[in-house]
Amino acid sequence: MNLSRKQVNDLVAIVTFSHSGENLVGGQLQQVEVGLTQQVALQLSAQLQADCYQIQPVEPYDIKFNATLLRADSERHLGARPEVNLVPHRLEATHRVIYLGYPNWFGTAPAPVLSWLSQQSLEGVSIYPFCTHEGGGLGRSVADLQRVSPGAIVLPGLPIRSSRVKQAQRAIAGWLWNTERRLKPNQLGTDNGLSKY
Ligand SMILES: Cc1cc2nc3c(=O)[nH]c(=O)nc-3n(C[C@H](O)[C@H](O)[C@H](O)COP(=O)(O)O)c2cc1C
Repeated sequence: MNLSRKQVNDLVAIVTFSHSGENLVGGQLQQVEVGLTQQVALQLSAQLQADCYQIQPVEPYDIKFNATLLRADSERHLGARPEVNLVPHRLEATHRVIYLGYPNWFGTAPAPVLSWLSQQSLEGVSIYPFCTHEGGGLGRSVADLQRVSPGAIVLPGLPIRSSRVKQAQRAIAGWLWNTERRLKPNQLGTDNGLSKY
């Protein structure tokens, strides 16, 4: 029997950090109302039927690209961990599978993602990373996530070029199909309700 929407929501969370405003898309600066990674998260949410949570820095990044670039570069050099909140609320202990989305910033996950991860106890939780990028793919992010969250099981991720986000449904569906095959029966039940993806 397939899991209900509520059961999926209890077990699976989609958590993202994404920058809206001025962003790089296919090498050009564009005004993006919904961040590219958030756009992927919404597609993922529609396919998975799971809820989305957003990592929001207490001090938001500037909507201007160059200002964000400068701040992110300085945070990277300092190894800063900016204060963040999860919106709408914190994860529950029942969440055993996290689809974690972020843009590639300087070859890795942005500081707010590392901040949030470092505050969680994710022992035995499966993390499937997905990122949007301008050519750098997942970069070093998978190794960095695992370093910050050593108890979690960080699994193969999905990189999507920012210019391909709107055509990403098939890539997302293929990745979900693969992630579902890796889920252990005790995480989502033997028939976990995701198999149609
Ligand atoms: C501060 C900053 C650093 C970036 N560094 C990289 C990078 O090293 N490699 C890359 O491929 N793209 C890089 N990008 C481009 C973003 O990864 C790309 O525009 C992404 O799709 C933005 O996603 P978002 O709208 O969810 O924030 C960078 C963008 C910013 C703002």
